[in-house]
Amino acid sequence: LMKKVYIKTYGCQMNERDSEAVAAMLRARGYAIIPSEADADVILLNTCSVRDLAEQKAIGKMTTLAHLKRRKPDLVLGYLGCMAQSRGGALAEKQSAVDLVVGTQRFHHVPDYLDQIFTRRCEDADSYDEELKAIVDTAEEPGSESTIRDHVLGTNGNRQVTAFVSIMQGCDMYCSFCIVPYTRGSERSRPIAEIVEEIQQLVDQGVQEVTLLGQIVTSYGRKDIGKQDGKSAFVQLLEAVHEVEGLERIRFTSPHPKGFGDDLIQAYRDLPKLCEHAHLPVQSGSNRLLKAMNRGYTREWYLRILDKLREAQPKIAISTDIIVGFPGETEEDFEHTASLMREVEFDQAYIFKYSPRRDTPAAELPDQLSDDEKERRNQIVLEILNDRMARKNQELVGQTVEILVEGRSEKAGKRMFGRTRTNKIVLFDGDEPHQGELLPVCIERATTITLYGNPAIHNL
Ligand code: SAH
Ligand code: F3S
Repeated sequence: LMKKVYIKTYGCQMNERDSEAVAAMLRARGYAIIPSEADADVILLNTCSVRDLAEQKAIGKMTTLAHLKRRKPDLVLGYLGCMAQSRGGALAEKQSAVDLVVGTQRFHHVPDYLDQIFTRRCEDADSYDEELKAIVDTAEEPGSESTIRDHVLGTNGNRQVTAFVSIMQGCDMYCSFCIVPYTRGSERSRPIAEIVEEIQQLVDQGVQEVTLLGQIVTSYGRKDIGKQDGKSAFVQLLEAVHEVEGLERIRFTSPHPKGFGDDLIQAYRDLPKLCEHAHLPVQSGSNRLLKAMNRGYTREWYLRILDKLREAQPKIAISTDIIVGFPGETEEDFEHTASLMREVEFDQAYIFKYSPRRDTPAAELPDQLSDDEKERRNQIVLEILNDRMARKNQELVGQTVEILVEGRSEKAGKRMFGRTRTNKIVLFDGDEPHQGELLPVCIERATTITLYGNPAIHNL
């Protein structure tokens, strides 16, 4: 009988992509991947460590599952990903219901480990022993960046239009607040040819838009590929991907602002498939804090990059990440962040309250802010953001924009949805046949986050 696996994913797009690759490998091994935990034989939590809240959510979920396991003793439970990497065997020691802990460089061993768990249980069936030890694997593995390559496309009968492609793993920046270098290891990049081949295969299956993924994509290949004709390895990769015939759109996330050299800015002029959107995490508007965060740029330098980008591509949408309440953030530091938000008018921003992470230098700093103060600053920045987003979206009403239709939106009253090249979601009344179309739509109505459109094609 096919064992049924449910994978729950926390955190970033990298995690979504890792889960998808694990699902594809498990399916190839004869497991069934199911969309809910109800009938699952195996439940895997692919975890995030970037903020404490994400860890607490996964641990809370596992506690609930451990209760469920008392009634269903055959249930297999596992932690994957970042928290598995950073906490390792301690997770299984604290929660004895856990059977499996697999870190960020060993995802591709999950099928083997599940096979082992099931055979072991069969063999031990007579002397069934609940005390069987958990399998814990958080080893480092050279080449593991190339093991995230399997995809599950269009399993709901629909053809899948967009896909994520992992191009590198790890980060060597060591921003003082960030746990990622410890959970994801140091920077390792896949060869250009291998990435292009994967994208070609995706396009052959109907994918039209790819998002190149990594913790710091602008550092792609800087050690092993290096610069050529003044172009960074990342720009060389963009150019190679741009050659893939049938591919319509290219996106990438997450870059580092320092990675926006003239070569990358020029790419926005030269490569028509590169979408007019850049996610440039700024973190703070205060130079004093940017230094304490080890970000390697100043507010003025960041603003200069945005100017250059807007010069190269006037329609470009800019999104960012902000941390409020970094240790020692004064009222004045915070005001610099608020003023940056007013000045830049971001199209989208992810605002985080600083969360102390184990092993990171910032967690040891004096002058940690209270939760109340962080929340107060969070609200102020959110208000500025929402105000600007609402205004920007309103400006689009009456305009015709091109969207790539991705499918039916389950959340939004079953309308169809697509994204503009600037990464804004547009909902419209329409049918499945539109899926995969590059469709001009006229924006009729806008809220802070969503645009409502009317397929303009009918009016032509
Ligand atoms: N370049 C990476 C960044 C990972 S963390 C990527 O996107 O893959 C994503 C964002 O979380 C960061 O840009 C930062 O704004 C926020 N973040 C990271 N560590 C944090 C912490 N300790 N507390 C609050 N926010 C944090
Ligand atoms: Fe984290 Fe800074 Fe790298 S935010 S992922 S250490 S660029």
